[in-house]
Amino acid sequence: MVLVEISNVTKEFTNGNKITHALNGINISVEARDFTALMGPSGSGKSTLLSIMGALHPPSSGKVDIDNIDVYSLNNERRADLRSIYIGFVFQQFQLVPYLTALENVMLPLAISGLSHRQQLDKAKTVLDKVGLQAKYNRLPNQLSGGEQQRVGIARAIVNKPPLILADEPTGSLDSATSREIMDIFKSLNEEGLTVIIVTHDRSNLHHVKKVVCIKDGKICSTEDYRCN
Ligand SMILES: Nc1ncnc2c1ncn2[C@@H]1O[C@H](COP(=O)(O)OP(=O)(O)OP(=O)(O)O)[C@@H](O)[C@H]1O
Ligand SMILES: [Mg+2]
Repeated sequence: MVLVEISNVTKEFTNGNKITHALNGINISVEARDFTALMGPSGSGKSTLLSIMGALHPPSSGKVDIDNIDVYSLNNERRADLRSIYIGFVFQQFQLVPYLTALENVMLPLAISGLSHRQQLDKAKTVLDKVGLQAKYNRLPNQLSGGEQQRVGIARAIVNKPPLILADEPTGSLDSATSREIMDIFKSLNEEGLTVIIVTHDRSNLHHVKKVVCIKDGKICSTEDYRCN
């Protein structure tokens, strides 16, 4: 089953009289339960593509379907609903709220869920346990290592049980041993049935992935080719 279908997507940015063609006709099909890496040189369009896939920014032209829903035909409110149901985001810089504990950060996406406080706590604890942070619920981000902060970031991304995880350089701020631990978490989430798409520069992250899509100058230059960068 195709979960994400990107058809003829282009994206242009205009700054004054300068036009940047960030994406130039991208076509990708992502099957449910795929584990895909997007690779390519700096400025090739990876983050732009990930945010368009993630229902965050409309393309200049083309179409994005998630679970056969034409994402950019929805109004902003319905698109936000689709995002919260379908997608968990993980970022390079973790993007945790600094004055909230690990547990409170993970509970944030549940604030509008209609669940009781007790249920929200239980769900957040379950996913923190899953990423190995059972002893650190009440730490603030600055009391956690980088790898632990990223575990909180992953717990927050999965707490709503979205089928799709989009991660933009999730190990870009971590050393290689910690990167491997984080990639192992993505691998086990994928084995449990989540579809995972990561942007990465790091080839040592590729041994878990099932597919590699390389982008250069806003175009796909290869799939399943490790030598694009
Ligand atoms: N908001 C914006 N306004 C103008 N240009 C932009 C904007 N966002 C991205 N770009 C340009 O679009 C192109 C693609 O950028 P993008 O951030 O997608 O690259 P990337 O592959 O993620 O690079 P990196 O590996 O450095 O993160 C670049 O030329 C960038 O300068
Ligand atoms: Mg980027």
